[in-house]
Amino acid sequence: MIIDTHAHLSDRRLAGELQHWLQLARQAGVKWIINVGADLASSRLAVEQAARHEGLWAAVGVHPHDAKDWTPAMAAELEELARHPKVCAYGEIGLDYHYDFSPRPVQREVFIEQLRLARALNLPVIIHDREAHQDVLNILRAEGPFPAGGVMHCYSGSAEMVPAYLELGFYISFAGPLTFRNAKKPRLAARQVPMDRLLVETDCPYLSPEPYRGRLNHSARVVHVVERLAEIKEVDFATMAAQTTRNAEQLFGLKGADATEAN
Ligand code: NI
Repeated sequence: MIIDTHAHLSDRRLAGELQHWLQLARQAGVKWIINVGADLASSRLAVEQAARHEGLWAAVGVHPHDAKDWTPAMAAELEELARHPKVCAYGEIGLDYHYDFSPRPVQREVFIEQLRLARALNLPVIIHDREAHQDVLNILRAEGPFPAGGVMHCYSGSAEMVPAYLELGFYISFAGPLTFRNAKKPRLAARQVPMDRLLVETDCPYLSPEPYRGRLNHSARVVHVVERLAEIKEVDFATMAAQTTRNAEQLFGLKGADATEAN
């Protein structure tokens, strides 16, 4: 049984046929999916979807792309949403210096504000870091410790930076890019992560793994990430699936019924 720790099922390419994607995931051995918000609307929908489907959990938060639209009223509504029993994390939040859709100082300010909100809510944080490695690390160090923990989602940093995140108590999550043929950097990073700090995810509908690179991604394809990670760590598939599932349950405090089906 596998847990896809990062999916965007509120995306319109997946939300329309949610039942279909959940069924494929269940058939592939996916037990639970963490449905991650990226702005207020997708956070709201992620919680609604999680409330309706047993196999889903939700995370709420504002992505750095949308930091420019942040308002105090939004903070209040996210806090309210975060109190729903199916919300298991705060995110995704962080910095994105690749696209720079929001000015960097605004990204940093909104990131810090949400880290504080997550801590007040006692929720683990889901961190997005694209080409902003040093600033993300500096902010996490300054704002820590994080008693509820956190995860570096779709890890794109170097192998050398892994120990710094481990020291913060964070988990490291890998997605489709780990399976790409030219993926030397994530492969080297994965070797540095101890088994009890690894997580797997799809980040669907984005980042479809090999052999589906470039196509619409969905939670069932997390299997290919588990496979690749098992090869890299030189363990069998079942061992990697069980270990990453235990890790996700531990970080996100997941308990209860399984199977990604409707009530
Ligand atoms: Ni994401």
